[in-house]
Amino acid sequence: MILGKMKEIAEAYLGKAVKNAVITVPAYFNDSQRQATKDAGTIAGLNVIHMINEPTAAAIAYGLDKKSEIIGKINALIFDLGGGTFDVSLSMIEEGGVFEVKAVSGDTHLGGEDFDNRMVDHCVSMFKRKWNKDLTGNQRALGRLRFACEKAKRILSNATQTSIELDCLHDGIDFSMKFTRAKFEELNMSLFNQCIETLDKCLKDAKVEKSWVDEIILVGGSTRIPKVQQMLRELFGWKELCKSVNPDEVVAFGAAVMAAKLSGSNDKGVQDVLLHDVTPLSLGIEVKGKLFDVVIPRNTRIPTKKFKKYDTGKDNQCAAIIKVYQGERTKCTDNYLMGKFRVSGIPPAPKGAVTFENCFEIDHNGILTVTAKILSTNVSNKLTITNENGRLSKDDIDKMVKEADKYKLDDQEHKKKVNAYNDLEDCICNMKKKVKEYKVNKRVRLESLKNMENAIDETLKWLQDNQSASVDEIQFKKVFLEFFCRLLV
Ligand SMILES: Nc1ncnc2c1ncn2[C@@H]1O[C@H](COP(=O)(O)OP(=O)(O)OP(=O)(O)O)[C@@H](O)[C@H]1O
Ligand SMILES: [Mg+2]
Repeated sequence: MILGKMKEIAEAYLGKAVKNAVITVPAYFNDSQRQATKDAGTIAGLNVIHMINEPTAAAIAYGLDKKSEIIGKINALIFDLGGGTFDVSLSMIEEGGVFEVKAVSGDTHLGGEDFDNRMVDHCVSMFKRKWNKDLTGNQRALGRLRFACEKAKRILSNATQTSIELDCLHDGIDFSMKFTRAKFEELNMSLFNQCIETLDKCLKDAKVEKSWVDEIILVGGSTRIPKVQQMLRELFGWKELCKSVNPDEVVAFGAAVMAAKLSGSNDKGVQDVLLHDVTPLSLGIEVKGKLFDVVIPRNTRIPTKKFKKYDTGKDNQCAAIIKVYQGERTKCTDNYLMGKFRVSGIPPAPKGAVTFENCFEIDHNGILTVTAKILSTNVSNKLTITNENGRLSKDDIDKMVKEADKYKLDDQEHKKKVNAYNDLEDCICNMKKKVKEYKVNKRVRLESLKNMENAIDETLKWLQDNQSASVDEIQFKKVFLEFFCRLLV
């Protein structure tokens, strides 16, 4: 849906249809996540011509931005902390526009939303302490709180303190709270530390010292958090961070350059861009004892093709199941099973007498094909990875392309409903304020005020109990409440 929306935005801006796309993914995505992203592109009506790792895209953008300043080679650390994922990578950017990614590492579940969640949890416990009421069952209140916390978090990147104010948050209670930057940092310190640990691991993996890094490029909205910047500078001996590229746009910029290159742009700078990417995770097969045997180690430059030989494990073995895994753990079951396939027709022979050759090939999109061949007979079988959990069949994709249009309508309907809901809620809050005012200036009879309050409470209760009401019903409630209150004044 997001990709479909992006297509729409691009088409509105360009005034013409957009068919082809380069899509970026976190470097740490495994094969199934990449394939799912590609499928999502197809469903959105896009022809995905290339998928590119986000840090690589950032390196491309940085390299073009600094083209005139790069003399020889620059070693860059790309630190991408976004909304949901964290990526680090080490890249070499050369004068001639060559980008080589040396190592990637990261955490697919760490980002700005986790910081928001910590803030929300804190607010919930403050609400509990003050009013002795539990917010956790009220999804709408939690949603409003999360939205307000995210906003406050952004403000705290510039200011040292802010406040969160929400009218009628729960049971008609208005919520108001001061939030300091220090508190925000305290709540999230363990997550910030996690980022630094991952970064250390990336450096160790690549066997480089901190001094190897010439430039630190910040990517992702969450790198605007001053504490994150401070910890990074501290780690690298107070080295300055590169801020000349916009952390929100740098990845999209790199992808756009790649797209221009692939669509045959005449621009010399764009044509010079040459790319070397690496595999984010090791790939291999299961061997005896459920152990993982690596065929392509992580951080190998792609595209790549590697061969490895294996012998039969039993006397007169007639078939073998090849299970392909992705990951870094020694036990297969701790890694991600990408798929399995069978090679049959092995000639009868004692254990160890028949040799297979497995070939692992990764294309420029990071997508894998595995072939197994019995060397004595030349019989082979190939794995077209069709992991039921991770991958969609062609039929599934076709079906979803059709459904996407239907979702568009559903979305519009949903939006209408949310608007009606918000309008009614605003109306209730305004009425409440008015009642308060009337009470102070005594312009309205007490009895009428009582009736108004009852009507407001009833509507509020209706709103909470009727989450699935239709747009018409919600709008009617609003008109009714307004009309009723006007009658009483
Ligand atoms: N000024 C700011 N201070 C702190 N956080 C910010 C600021 N601006 C944006 N963010 C946070 O940055 C995150 C969004 O960043 P970004 O757009 O890079 O994410 P994304 O690329 O969509 O997600 P991901 O890379 O995790 O898939 C959100 O969590 C947002 O709250
Ligand atoms: Mg991102």
